[in-house]
Amino acid sequence: MTNRITVNADRAKGTINRNIYGHFSEHLGRCIYEGLWVGEDSDIPNTKGIRNDVAAALKKMKIPVLRWPGGCFADEYHWKDGIGPKENRKRMINTHWGGVVENNHFGTHEFMMLCEMLECEPYINGNVGSGTVQEMADWVEYLTFEGVSPMAELREANGRPEPWKVKYFGVGNENWGCGGNMRPEYYADLYRQFQTYVRNYGSNRIHKIACGPNTDDYHWMETLMKQAHRFMDSITLHYYTVPGDSWQEKGTATGFPENMWRVTLKKALFMEELISKHSAIMDQYDPDKRIGLLVDEWGTWHDVEPGTNPGFLYQQNTIRDALVAGISLNIFNEHCDRVQMANIAQLVNVLQAVILTEGEKMVLTPTYHVFDMYKVHQDAQLLDVHQSITELGEGKQAIPQISVSASIDEEGRIHISLCNLDHQAGAKVEVELRGLVDKLVSVQGTTLTSDAIDGHNTFEETDKVSPTEFTAFNLIDQVIYAELPPMSVTVLALTAE
Ligand code: AHR
Repeated sequence: MTNRITVNADRAKGTINRNIYGHFSEHLGRCIYEGLWVGEDSDIPNTKGIRNDVAAALKKMKIPVLRWPGGCFADEYHWKDGIGPKENRKRMINTHWGGVVENNHFGTHEFMMLCEMLECEPYINGNVGSGTVQEMADWVEYLTFEGVSPMAELREANGRPEPWKVKYFGVGNENWGCGGNMRPEYYADLYRQFQTYVRNYGSNRIHKIACGPNTDDYHWMETLMKQAHRFMDSITLHYYTVPGDSWQEKGTATGFPENMWRVTLKKALFMEELISKHSAIMDQYDPDKRIGLLVDEWGTWHDVEPGTNPGFLYQQNTIRDALVAGISLNIFNEHCDRVQMANIAQLVNVLQAVILTEGEKMVLTPTYHVFDMYKVHQDAQLLDVHQSITELGEGKQAIPQISVSASIDEEGRIHISLCNLDHQAGAKVEVELRGLVDKLVSVQGTTLTSDAIDGHNTFEETDKVSPTEFTAFNLIDQVIYAELPPMSVTVLALTAE
């Protein structure tokens, strides 16, 4: 059956915040050390310690915002351990992730330098679980205060006289779990207390972020909104796509049985329900949608690659992960009235990474290519879309064959991202453009697909799954008749004259 999609080019529904295409980097496994930071003395080409190859790839992908230092690490991190001469910085064990030595060589200055290099916004996550109000207040002062103050003087002594601009600041992470195992009532009070001292200095304006729920913990959302909505600019949501039946048996990233294809995509699609239900709770306290919902941890979580440190969360990344990314980003776009940011976990070498490294080698994953193809949606206007889509499977296990999202950018170019969730068959799609003032004259397409459900790139074969030109369509009047390849992510760029 043909899938029918109507895009109303004259009905913009709001701005797709570029930060929906955001990322997350934690002191976990080889994300920071080796993935991003190799140090100035490394043989791996670097600029002031940051890998050149990784930085160039991230800039090309237009990374808009980067969250750091965790994750669970954030609520164990004491920022003063990571400033000053590197040889004097504390060496300690990263007890949460893999039991390896953390030498604190990547700290506040290095993170802010990385963000400057990548031209992305920093999003710093403070420590509530094992930190103090004073420590958090000092960090904000150190980062942003201009003038005479103990923290500004300390910053200057460490080589940075001028303050940085920091917009996004998180007050704790997963405080319902690794961040202190708190009850929502208790955390809500702590949030109110801690955020009081997260101050705006000079012209710097901080966007205060409260720790939100895990997955479908609607009670947490309700409690936080009820008790603390006045004090927050955003609240977070964490949801991971775990293909297997439990955290003990998550399933492998490659070589998985065929039935796990649909199971995984079904679980990724659950994001739609989560955002709708959490937003409905938020609407009761914030009908004007002032407060953002930040999905600041999402993505696939598979078993670690055999032979790797279980605490390093290193996994391969296949066309199945690319579909999870495409579907999730389409969902976030559609909810851009509430979802102001999303940060896939994690940037390099951890979970659904866009980049994997091995020594001096680097490979871009299928997920990277999705982010690169979808960057055209950043800051564009979401367009109204109507759809009649074939279902795959039956009953509760059914999934739609197609996931879609469309936007129009400042220059009037329309981009339509289409995922074919069917791993066995191509999908016929008719996309009708309505409301165009000018006639549609050209369509260009890029597609990402594979010949295997676990197709992926390796350090030996870096381009096995990479985007190619998409030509399987006809444009007749204002309708695009396309046949999407099986298991594919496609972006169409439309020009009217
Ligand atoms: O991303 C890995 C971990 O998952 C994070 O540290 C934590 O916040 C979440 O449980």
